[in-house]
Amino acid sequence: MVKVAPSVLSADFGKLNQDIQMLNSSEADYIHLDVMDGVFVPNISFGFPVIKSIAKVAQKPLDVHLMIVDPQRYVSQVRDCGAEIMNVHVEACTHLHRVVQQIKSAGMKAAVTLNPATPVIMLEDIINDIDMVLLMSVNPGFGGQSFIPGTIKKLKQTRSLIEQSGSNAVIEIDGGVNMKTGAELAANGADILVAGSFVFSSKNPEATIAELRRL
Ligand code: DX5
Ligand code: ZN
Repeated sequence: MVKVAPSVLSADFGKLNQDIQMLNSSEADYIHLDVMDGVFVPNISFGFPVIKSIAKVAQKPLDVHLMIVDPQRYVSQVRDCGAEIMNVHVEACTHLHRVVQQIKSAGMKAAVTLNPATPVIMLEDIINDIDMVLLMSVNPGFGGQSFIPGTIKKLKQTRSLIEQSGSNAVIEIDGGVNMKTGAELAANGADILVAGSFVFSSKNPEATIAELRRL
C-alpha cells in the first residue's frame, strides 16, 4: 500500500489548526511541509515559527521539504521543530554528502530531492547514505501544477538504482498527484505520494487521503 503525505501548502492558513486536526484524524502517513525562500524557487511559503506551531498539534511525522539555497544552514532548526524527515535538493547543496551526514547526526531521516530536469545518476554516490529519494514531478514553487510524465521513467530508474546498490531508501513523489497519476506512480514503485491541491480542494479531504492510500 502506498503512503500519503498531504502537503500543507494547499491548506487554508486562516484555519491551519483545523486542517492539521483533519490530517491527524485521517489516514495520512506524514505531514509534508514546503519551505520556500524566494531564491531557490520563485515563491515564499512559511518558515520555522509556523512549522513549530504545526508540530504542537500534529500527530503525524513531519516531512520537511526545503526549497531553499544552502539548507545545511538550518539542520538544527529543522530538528528543533521536531521534523522526522529533512528533504534537501541536490541542486541546492554544494557538499551534499556533508549535509546528509549532518541531517542524520541530528537524528533525522535524510532525504535528497531532484528537480524534474536533474538526472537520477546524480544520486549514484549518495544512494547508500540516504533514507529517501524525493522526485519532483513538477517544477518546485507552487501547488496545483500538472504532473510531468517523464517522472515515471525517473521513478523506474530510481527503483533500479536502489535495487542495484542495496540501498534502503524509499521513493517519494511530489507534484501533480491525483488518482490517475497516483495510480501510475504506485504501479511503478512509488512508496510515498505527496498531494497538496488534490487533497485540500477535495470536498472530503479525509476520504481522498484514504482513496490515495488504497491505490
Ligand atoms: C511544490 C511543492 C509541493 C506542492 C504539491 O513546490 O513541493 O509539495 O505542495 O502540490 P500539488 O499536490 O498541488 O501539486
Ligand atoms: Zn513538497
